[in-house]
Amino acid sequence: TGPETVSPTGQPTGADQARNAQSGAYLTTAQGARLYDTDHSLKAGPRGPVLLQDHHLREKITHFDHERIPERVVHARGAAAHGVFRGYGSAAKISKAAFLAKDVETPVFVRFSTVLGSRGSADTVRDTRGFATKFYTEEGVFDLVGNNIPVFFIQDAIKFPDVIHAGKPHPDREIPQAQSAHDTFWDFVTLHSEATHHTLWNMSDRGIPRSYRTMEGFGVHTFRLVDAEGASTLVKFHWKPKLGVHSQVWEEAQIASGVDPDFHRRDLADAIEAGAFPQWELGVQTFPDNPEQMFQGIDLLDPTKIVPEELAPVQPIGLMTLDANPSNFFAETEQVAFHVGNMVPGIDVTNDPLLQGRLFSYVDTQLTRLGGPNFPQLPINRTHAPVNDMLRDGMHQTAVHRGVAPYRPNSLDGGCPFLAGADNGAFVEVPAEVAASRKVREAPESFDDHFSQPRLFWLSMTPVEREHIIAAYTFELGKCYEQVIKERALKVLARIDAQLCEQVAAGLGLPAPEPDGPLADPEPSPALSQVGGVWPLD
Ligand code: HEM
Repeated sequence: TGPETVSPTGQPTGADQARNAQSGAYLTTAQGARLYDTDHSLKAGPRGPVLLQDHHLREKITHFDHERIPERVVHARGAAAHGVFRGYGSAAKISKAAFLAKDVETPVFVRFSTVLGSRGSADTVRDTRGFATKFYTEEGVFDLVGNNIPVFFIQDAIKFPDVIHAGKPHPDREIPQAQSAHDTFWDFVTLHSEATHHTLWNMSDRGIPRSYRTMEGFGVHTFRLVDAEGASTLVKFHWKPKLGVHSQVWEEAQIASGVDPDFHRRDLADAIEAGAFPQWELGVQTFPDNPEQMFQGIDLLDPTKIVPEELAPVQPIGLMTLDANPSNFFAETEQVAFHVGNMVPGIDVTNDPLLQGRLFSYVDTQLTRLGGPNFPQLPINRTHAPVNDMLRDGMHQTAVHRGVAPYRPNSLDGGCPFLAGADNGAFVEVPAEVAASRKVREAPESFDDHFSQPRLFWLSMTPVEREHIIAAYTFELGKCYEQVIKERALKVLARIDAQLCEQVAAGLGLPAPEPDGPLADPEPSPALSQVGGVWPLD
């Protein structure tokens, strides 16, 4: 009893499509009554007052008055495209997900976004980019809701409102619109040293991508892939662009945001329209799902850490091609609702405390943004799998449910007497042990090291990349009004690298502080033979 048919791209078919095409011979009201004039209100004489009985005037203006919905609380500005994902089959060894099987083709919808700017902000600002993919698999919708930076600012979702409040424009002046160059951002990231790694990536060229087509994507958290026997492998998801990873230089990004604030959006749409379809390979790093969930001393549940690809190579599992632009921005790009909890059999979550909070947040915010609990019925959100749920009614219900007994078991509708078993295609959670002896509000000790990976990142940069990072910190911190924040930021940089700290300090006209802790000494990478998990996949 799910909603009626949709096309492979999630578009409504049949009568709805004709209605939406605006190509009919007659203009009508929303009720289908033909109109003879849509330019003049009904009046008491040509110079007289307008009559309340003009139902067309009222319908037209009322609908217009309610056209806007709230923008996303984060990632408000985005651009999207339809496409297809084809599994290589290599992941079949560790996941039973049907869409990962060899040569299975699955429609996808991808939305790229900036994080902090509002809907009308510029594309080429320095920011993290969202990279969210909806897979319309035959077993239900799977959403991979990632970013173009592999780590996050915070380790626990309870701080998410705080980091976003700090990153958004100041509440008094509502500036800046879409950048990290302001006091509250720097105040937060210097008071929460766990934010150092993500901030450093932002200040690198990764913060100003050349194009959405040349961005990597990362699932950030560690997830689980689960095979047909229920065996679990920990994985980190990576999207690798076929065009390579490219950034703008800062001056270019600044000019682009003035000359063409829609630079990335236009680039994506123009490329697809011209037939230059962008492609990404999906890959996974694999790790054994042992009770520690650590790999080479890295806590896999800490979203501020990467696992270097020298330690665990990214193994390709499929190819995504974006080949069609949305035909209506609002219906598709704006109304699409991603959720990290949309999973299919063969994929499961871990205890990463940031991921756990996200499992609550997405649907919760969409209840407001999309006006009630029935947004999964919107064409762009509809699963392509059959739906037989017991959810009923609510605002904007479009399904006409049949039967009288939306509960089970029931003796009236004869429907769904059994739930599916694990061997019948059902989603079954990995029965992982929960080793809790007490409730606590504390992080594990393994989350404490906030500086060795930023240093590792810095040391991996070429001289010109380092110059760009120094210039970025100098520019962004230079926009802060409060000296105490600049000084604290320099203390953080001193923990990453002396050259970085000294040169930014010189740019700001301040003395370079001594580090108030030892500099990390990143270990040389061990050989690939030490890789855990399932390696190689094929
Ligand atoms: C939206 C990624 C952390 C709450 C988004 C979007 C992306 C994303 C890509 C845009 C989705 C779209 O295009 O519609 C991430 C990543 C995170 C992260 C990679 C960390 C690794 C969090 C956390 C929370 C959160 C910790 C809350 C506890 C939200 C909300 C939205 C959003 C409320 C708006 C959703 C909507 O209105 O539809 N996130 N996010 N995110 N995210 Fe996150």
